[in-house]
Amino acid sequence: MVIFAVETSCDETSVAVMRNGREQLSCELYSQADMHAMYGGVVPEIASRNHAAIIGRLSDFAIKNAGITKKDIDAVAVTYAPGLIGALLVGVNFAKGLAMALDVPVIPVHHIRGHIAANYIAYPELEPPFLCVIISGGNSIIADVRDYTDISIVGRSRDDAAGECFDKVARILGLGYPGGAAIDKLSQGGDDTLFDLPHPVIEGFPYDMSFSGLKTAVVNIVHNASQKAARQGDGSSVFPASQIEQNLCNDRKTDEPSPCLAASLAASFTRTMSEILVPRVMAAAAEFGHDKIALAGGVAANTRIRADFTKAAEAESKKLFIPPLNLCGDNAAMIGCQGFYEYKAGVQGGMELDAYATMDVEIRVL
Ligand code: KG4
Repeated sequence: MVIFAVETSCDETSVAVMRNGREQLSCELYSQADMHAMYGGVVPEIASRNHAAIIGRLSDFAIKNAGITKKDIDAVAVTYAPGLIGALLVGVNFAKGLAMALDVPVIPVHHIRGHIAANYIAYPELEPPFLCVIISGGNSIIADVRDYTDISIVGRSRDDAAGECFDKVARILGLGYPGGAAIDKLSQGGDDTLFDLPHPVIEGFPYDMSFSGLKTAVVNIVHNASQKAARQGDGSSVFPASQIEQNLCNDRKTDEPSPCLAASLAASFTRTMSEILVPRVMAAAAEFGHDKIALAGGVAANTRIRADFTKAAEAESKKLFIPPLNLCGDNAAMIGCQGFYEYKAGVQGGMELDAYATMDVEIRVL
């Protein structure tokens, strides 16, 4: 079965051709990140317009690069929730138009289910059941994947998503948007023990997480340092970076000289993030009886988080699945893969298919 897949939930326009779920014939991705960088985050209206402008040509590329013709397409899978509503609507309407023209079914796919399925593409041997932690720009979820389409939430962030937190910290450190990869790089040169940051616990909900306190702690450290720098400086509104750097000293644990305090703050932040995630996932795997653990979403690209999960899985003899970097972020291949399993489970949308800005990964609304 050949599925043409469409992903437009945020600022990446992606289309793919997948055969029988896991075989990727082509996957094209056009990232708008540069266009949104100057605003410090995604501007929904700009994202929708760019999806509309690019998706037709990108689809022609995907079909050509897959070595097929439109006649070979058996179904069209599309991300219909959750995401930016205008951006989703571009993809959903494009998919419905294509499906109608080709007289094939349209398959609605939940974006987070797609992230989980990225692991099926990377690991042909992987089959449910397993535990999956999905850490992306918009979601942080620990999910019990009982079957391809039977997924239940074990824990989730009560506030910010992990990726959102990385992006905010990157912004405050002047690293631009999206900042997860830049924090990852900056952290490499830092001392991860230099700053003590909060690890919130939600009483009675051992697998739930909270990241906003961690984010605020980092923001406060940098703001305090900036304000001190302003007082010590010449009164200009541009704070001297060297003084911010110097003032960060006041919030760290030791007075030992450090090569770069911003790098140590980034490394301490990433360590804390990992310390929030890893023990919860390992405990959930034990409680729900899973010997397989999978990571998914853009933050699963993080070097420290990947390394910590690898160590923890080895220590507890669990099999760990981590998608390659190109399958961690948003892409249409994962939507085509999950679309195959949704179709096999009887999921089909008609021409009335709508898009939804929010939707639990457990729920299917048609
Ligand atoms: O999965 P994704 O592409 O989009 C959503 O579905 O939300 O994830 C994007 C997020 C962004 O917040 C980005 O900063 C973060 O993933 N990210 C990273 C890294 N690479 C991307 N976070 C930490 N470390 C990285 N290496």
